[in-house]
Amino acid sequence: MNILVTGGAGYIGSHTVIELMNSGHQVAVVDNLANSCEKSLERAAEIVGREIPFYKADIRDREGLSGAMKAHEDRTGQAFDCCIHFAGLKSPNESIRIPLEYYDNNITGTQVLLGELIRHGCKNMIFSSSASVYGSPAVIPVTEECPKGQCTNPYGWTKSMLEQILTDLQTADPEWNIVLLRYFNPIGAHESGLIGEDPNGIPNNLMPYITQVAAGRRKELNIYGDDYDTPDGTGIRDYIHVVDLARGHVKALGAIGNKCGLAVYNLGTGRGYSVLEVVRAFEEANGVKIPYIIRERRAGDVAVSYSDPAKAERELGWKAQYGITDMCRDAWNWQRKNPDGLSGR
Ligand code: UD1
Repeated sequence: MNILVTGGAGYIGSHTVIELMNSGHQVAVVDNLANSCEKSLERAAEIVGREIPFYKADIRDREGLSGAMKAHEDRTGQAFDCCIHFAGLKSPNESIRIPLEYYDNNITGTQVLLGELIRHGCKNMIFSSSASVYGSPAVIPVTEECPKGQCTNPYGWTKSMLEQILTDLQTADPEWNIVLLRYFNPIGAHESGLIGEDPNGIPNNLMPYITQVAAGRRKELNIYGDDYDTPDGTGIRDYIHVVDLARGHVKALGAIGNKCGLAVYNLGTGRGYSVLEVVRAFEEANGVKIPYIIRERRAGDVAVSYSDPAKAERELGWKAQYGITDMCRDAWNWQRKNPDGLSGR
């Protein structure tokens, strides 16, 4: 298929571009580089051994986006078959401080994108959603039937609202095929160590914080709470290797091809690990000590969240292949080889 990848220079986007190209698909990346850099695409091109067509554009800029799509269609003589939509702001913390930026980038951006896709005759989309739409999950393991919940930050609400907008669009026009992928906790990096997660400033998420402690950039890990109702008191999450997650998108193209209408899938491993278990796994996989200190609980965190990924296996033939040791090894391999990331931020 000929696929438009928005946000394709970012962490999950760049890994997905590689898996798509390795599966024989053609891609064009549109990214405004707000939280990524072109170097990740150069590295991805090195991995696949082919050029990756890139158009710098902001999805909120109708003319810029349309121009990029037209330029690519003219260049290849092919219309887009599907859009995989990653572009958006993604920090829960930051979203509490600047909610309007989040609603503008994520919601307005998606609305402009949808309008342009329609104009260009493309009514197929795979959307990056998040387990955060479940709020504090009502059922563990979390199935897709678990009711959506109260999000704890504007970032989560943008994902929840966008799911609703896309659902309404597909109801109004059944020619659309839309797959909502709810990601659990993506970590790790491409095994080459050429691309990986490159957060801006102090990492909010657990794994990049751990790798920066391992690299000596931060003194110790802050563990947010050891008094949750879990076996060791620390929060439990469903960590998933970013390459497995990327492959989930390739499999989701099968559902689009089968004219799925609207379909929702969890992408997780189905196995939860506590913060302390992740620290231990990292130490064992890499032979590096991670000093930590127990802090107060972080506002907005839930005790336990892990998926039931059976639906994706049943319907898409997708199942995570990598375990926590692989995730820890690849995360550290990437950080060790790129101590300052790619953008040197
Ligand atoms: C968060 C967001 C989620 C988003 C995801 C990926 C919330 C409630 N969830 O998930 O919407 O999709 O990031 O960006 O905001 N932890 C520490 N020390 C740290 C960092 C984290 O102990 O320095 C703990 C947390 O308390 C949690 C676990 O590690 O128990 C995972 O945290 P994190 O990586 O931030 O992911 P989530 O909070 O699950």
